[in-house]
Amino acid sequence: MLFRQLFDPVSSTYTYLLAQRPGGEALLIDPVLDRVPQYLQLIDELDLKLVLAVDTHIHADHITGGGELQLATGCATAMGEQTKAECVSLRFREGEVLKADDVRLTAIYTPGHTDDSYSLLMDDRVFSGDTLLIRGTGRTDFQNGDPGAQYDSLFGKLLLLPDETLVYPAHDYEGRTSSSIGEERRFNPRLQVASRQQYIDQMNALNLDPPRLIDVAVPANRRCGIRMAA
Ligand SMILES: [Fe+2]
Repeated sequence: MLFRQLFDPVSSTYTYLLAQRPGGEALLIDPVLDRVPQYLQLIDELDLKLVLAVDTHIHADHITGGGELQLATGCATAMGEQTKAECVSLRFREGEVLKADDVRLTAIYTPGHTDDSYSLLMDDRVFSGDTLLIRGTGRTDFQNGDPGAQYDSLFGKLLLLPDETLVYPAHDYEGRTSSSIGEERRFNPRLQVASRQQYIDQMNALNLDPPRLIDVAVPANRRCGIRMAA
């Protein structure tokens, strides 16, 4: 199994490269446009064939590398069926399995941060996008965010996974790289709530500044990050 956690320091985004073996098929989760040359070099060095670039949701803080990767490698681009990105080559839904050789990711619909947010489950680990972060959860105040839906995604789906399931989020701003479901249930301050309403009130009280790049990133990501011709 080949597993690489790659980092974009500008947006603090984690991108994951997965493959079963050198020389085989690979997929990328949440690639960042500015890092595409780095991904292509690594894919070449490891003699991989990129077959799929998946975004867990339409990001507001960075531009996806999905479209550029598709142009460079011919890989498919994928997002959940709720996405407003018309450019993706395939749309998946709850329970659908994404594959690269024997690497299998099962899609779990986890709306709340956005209405197109998915988590991706692979054996002993879950790629939790911006739904479940390490000691945090994704904000719910734009892009059809919904704190009640996020509570349902967390308490009705992700936290029902076995405690030892590893958690790999789309971001971390403190240098933490992974966690586990059991660890987050116990120590994630956002999850220490007694009710759905308490979670909603907590999220609605955050009053965060909008992401710096939202007005650029969201329209660009609806085009899969492909730059418009001048
Ligand atoms: Fe996000």
